[in-house]
Amino acid sequence: MGSNPAGPAKVIINISMNIFGNEIDTGFKPHLQLIEDMTPVCNTTPTTKHFIIKPADRDKQVVDFIEKTLGFYVFHSELFYTPTNATRTIHIDGDVGTEPYDKIYKINWIYGGADSEMIWYETDKGYKPTKNLTSVGTYALAFDPSRCKSIYSMKIKNCAIIEAGRPHTVINYNEPRWAISYVISSRPWTPEQDTLLSPSWDEIIKSFSKYISL
Ligand SMILES: [Fe+2]
Repeated sequence: MGSNPAGPAKVIINISMNIFGNEIDTGFKPHLQLIEDMTPVCNTTPTTKHFIIKPADRDKQVVDFIEKTLGFYVFHSELFYTPTNATRTIHIDGDVGTEPYDKIYKINWIYGGADSEMIWYETDKGYKPTKNLTSVGTYALAFDPSRCKSIYSMKIKNCAIIEAGRPHTVINYNEPRWAISYVISSRPWTPEQDTLLSPSWDEIIKSFSKYISL
């Protein structure tokens, strides 16, 4: 038999991304000190908690990754705490109105929360969620679980790019769970332009597919 004139077959790895969430490997774990500092504060009461990470307190590695490596901008940064055996309200982060909801892409680094699940839902047609002011002065849309049907779930072990513009929640089990969460925008935040401009799905695939954990 002669040799193949085309040479050895090329192995093509086709990484397809899920529209809800994808585990990624950024190679670093940000805000460890913040988690350590907040642990005694949060563990005193078994309630879900939410904190803003101010621009001046953002982790430089995260900002550089989003802005220099990926070519996007940080729109918002926050920390979510979920105690053991707790389920968060089904919600959308923000007040993006009615269906079809605007996309909100976030990178979430998870600490603790072993086996916790992030779940996404679709709602009854025409269902209107309730707009709530959060404890940190932002808005969230809250959904009645009886009007929602789960459509996807994932267990985030370390870090994930997630879509928070669809109704979603977290169910947590045996240990407290912390999520460091950075919202990604296509333009820098300015006082004049203070609304999120989300990257397109194609831009997300282009930027993130090489970081997907297989
Ligand atoms: Fe959320």
